[in-house]
Amino acid sequence: MASVPSLASTLQQRISDALSAALPEAGSADPLLRRSDRADFQANGMLALAKKLKGNPRELAAKVVEGLPAGDLIQEIEVSGPGFLNITLSDRAIVETLAARVADARLGVPVKEKPGTTVIDWAQPNVAKEMHVGHLRSAVIGDAVVKILEFAGEKVVSRHHIGDWGTQFGMLIQYLLEHPHELDHEGREAAGEEAMSNLNRLYKASRALFDADADFKERARRRVVALQAGDEETLALWQRFVDESKLYFYSVFDKLDMKIEDADVVGESGYNHMLAETCRLLEESGVAVRSEGALCVFFEDVKGPDGNPVPLIVQKSDGGFGYAATDLSAIRNRVQELGADTLVYVVDARQSLHFKMVFETARRAGWLNGEVKAVQLAFGTVLGKDGKPFKTREGETVRLEDLLDEAVERAAAVVREKAQDLSEEEIAERAAQVGIGAVKYADLSTSAIRDYKFDLDQMVSLNGDTSVYLQYAYARIQSILRKAGEVAPKAHPELALAPAERALALHLDEFAETLTGVAETYEPHKLAAYLYQLASAYTTFYDQCPVLKAESAELVENRLFLCDLTARTLRQGMALLGLRTPERL
Ligand code: ARG
Repeated sequence: MASVPSLASTLQQRISDALSAALPEAGSADPLLRRSDRADFQANGMLALAKKLKGNPRELAAKVVEGLPAGDLIQEIEVSGPGFLNITLSDRAIVETLAARVADARLGVPVKEKPGTTVIDWAQPNVAKEMHVGHLRSAVIGDAVVKILEFAGEKVVSRHHIGDWGTQFGMLIQYLLEHPHELDHEGREAAGEEAMSNLNRLYKASRALFDADADFKERARRRVVALQAGDEETLALWQRFVDESKLYFYSVFDKLDMKIEDADVVGESGYNHMLAETCRLLEESGVAVRSEGALCVFFEDVKGPDGNPVPLIVQKSDGGFGYAATDLSAIRNRVQELGADTLVYVVDARQSLHFKMVFETARRAGWLNGEVKAVQLAFGTVLGKDGKPFKTREGETVRLEDLLDEAVERAAAVVREKAQDLSEEEIAERAAQVGIGAVKYADLSTSAIRDYKFDLDQMVSLNGDTSVYLQYAYARIQSILRKAGEVAPKAHPELALAPAERALALHLDEFAETLTGVAETYEPHKLAAYLYQLASAYTTFYDQCPVLKAESAELVENRLFLCDLTARTLRQGMALLGLRTPERL
């Protein structure tokens, strides 16, 4: 496992050194290296620098060129315009760097020198409720971020903060007590969807009774009190709801091709025993104050439409604890017990005010300090084709399972049309990989904070920025590598690179830096964009440069080598986004 410095970073370092030598007053100055159309790279940093120090940029640029060490990295460098540097790298350096990448299982991507511990809160549906597209987003983005951080070497602990506590359980449990066979499966394990439809039926029935029957309402209210007091029979029934719901959650996560560990599912109830203490600590330290009987935290900059401050309510006046008390307790647990130095919350942007207030409260209480940072990786709303929040024609929230099934169905049509030698079984397997990939990719390829339109036609399209396009690029490369048979990929640094080979190669070399950046900023969409550009650069290469029919044996091997590294890079990058790469499509 040897990390491979990119060509850009080596070049950057060399120019930066030459610049400091040419202009000691500038200290360590940034040459502002960029990829360019005219040459491989352009450096513009001399312009601003010379201006600042009242020098001549062209002269400075020329001095930098003189000061560069001789070697085989740079093939050509020229001063151009008012004082840019245009730099063309040597073909040898490019191919040698890529050869070092292909030889490394991590493709030369470095591991963090000082890994920390990140506790990430993602995929948090609610017990006894249907999952919706918002839960889909948290799951898809969270899964990708976990994989990206782990690959970077970070220690990652997942927390699925499911909604498994609250007053609605009084009603549900009371109903189940009075209708004891409603959740029975006659001895069978209920499948996920069946579990949900049982819960739905029960929810509706208990709700109807609750609204119609005042006595039941009162019994339900007393049941909440019993639940909170830890009454055994009540807790046992509550546990049945949780278990039944988990069957359903796991079936959806399974469909999503995601692994959720049971030990990481720590719902709201998991912090129940901490709530009273959290409130006591906040009140004693004066961070929270009593206001009209409720325990509240106030903020300078959080005001309602009437201009009055809107507090974070930690404990209601009737003594009940809410969402905020749970989240504050979870912070104490995650920092003090789990040792987190970073907390990430993959949660809908509509909860941003909540998290802003919770984080600020935790800071005032000293549970978050300079050593621990908390970020909400907030995501936008999923919209329908009409640009409005995604609903069925009847105005109901769309059932996640139906949506995923439809995506797989559409994908099956696409796969079948293209399939040449696939069996029905293979078509079904590919359809799942393509359909689920399409849904994930559509989510991951836009910046999380933006809303996006859920458009299955676009998602499974073969052309354009879709996972299917990436999967086909990968499968096509595998087919070439299979056809090459005995001829193995081999780097030939002595060969000259054609423009399309060069463009592909320089993009391949950016993989490590792209990943490192994505892990720092939690922006999987930048990895998606990188992979899409990679597949595009590959397509151009494939159109312009014959691989198996290239003029010489060396050229065939070298092109196979570019194919091979492209495939490995696609596979690694796509795996980090939770996307499968079937070998044949
Ligand atoms: N269960 C919540 C919902 O469905 C999301 C929980 C987010 N995480 C948290 N720590 N509050 O909206």
